[in-house]
Amino acid sequence: MSDSNAGSPAIIAVEHVYKSVSDSTGTLDILRDIDFRLQARETAAIVGASGSGKSTLLSIIAGLDTPTRGTVRLNGQDLFALDEDARAALRAQQVGFVFQSFQLMANLSALENVMLPLELAGRRDARQAASAMLGRVGLGQRLGHYPKVLSGGEQQRVALARAFVVEPLVLLADEPTGSLDFATGETVMELMFELNRERGTTLVLVTHDRAIAGRCEHCITIEAGQVALA
Ligand SMILES: Nc1ncnc2c1ncn2[C@@H]1O[C@H](COP(=O)(O)OP(=O)(O)O)[C@@H](O)[C@H]1O
Ligand SMILES: [Mg+2]
Repeated sequence: MSDSNAGSPAIIAVEHVYKSVSDSTGTLDILRDIDFRLQARETAAIVGASGSGKSTLLSIIAGLDTPTRGTVRLNGQDLFALDEDARAALRAQQVGFVFQSFQLMANLSALENVMLPLELAGRRDARQAASAMLGRVGLGQRLGHYPKVLSGGEQQRVALARAFVVEPLVLLADEPTGSLDFATGETVMELMFELNRERGTTLVLVTHDRAIAGRCEHCITIEAGQVALA
């Protein structure tokens, strides 16, 4: 991580990002001047108290939410210079995102949920690849199950498989082991770091787990919407 533009181009550049939301009761400043860069293959943990702005920051890095000021460059491309369709297309190609709330499609089985990004990418081996990835997260016996009959931990693993399966350039995950027991959490963590080693995937993980944060090269602490200096 670095705070300047010097050196090799960043895979993720978060440039002076601010986020405020307003309603009838006033304005809430959620993020204030978040600024950092990550190079390809780097791993970073985002840590901080509940309500500090971690999920908001991750959504903005993914281009799922828009900053009030500042921008994010993904592999040199200014995400917010694109219109929504172009941003969605870029995200589909390069970003895997694991939501804190999973966001699985209720009307699709586990297998179909994981096949979806592959089908959107035109992959002919969607079924085979999705099935193999569900096997790797320990859900080989749950392919035909719908989200509502899966436990929280199982849904989280489907969400992880859906994000991993396209082998994205960047993997963003919001508390990816939050609903998992220790052993399953370890398996999923291994899988993320394997992607990082084997494919050079840049990892940005929001986590409360010190073991995960400790395995990342960088630890970014957010305090009341700002990066706290270590
Ligand atoms: N769309 C929104 N409207 C109003 N307040 C929001 C919105 N999104 C997030 N917040 C508030 O911003 C703060 C940061 O939220 P969040 O990014 O989810 O924090 P964290 O993930 O660190 O727990 C919280 O106080 C939350 O209630
Ligand atoms: Mg959160």
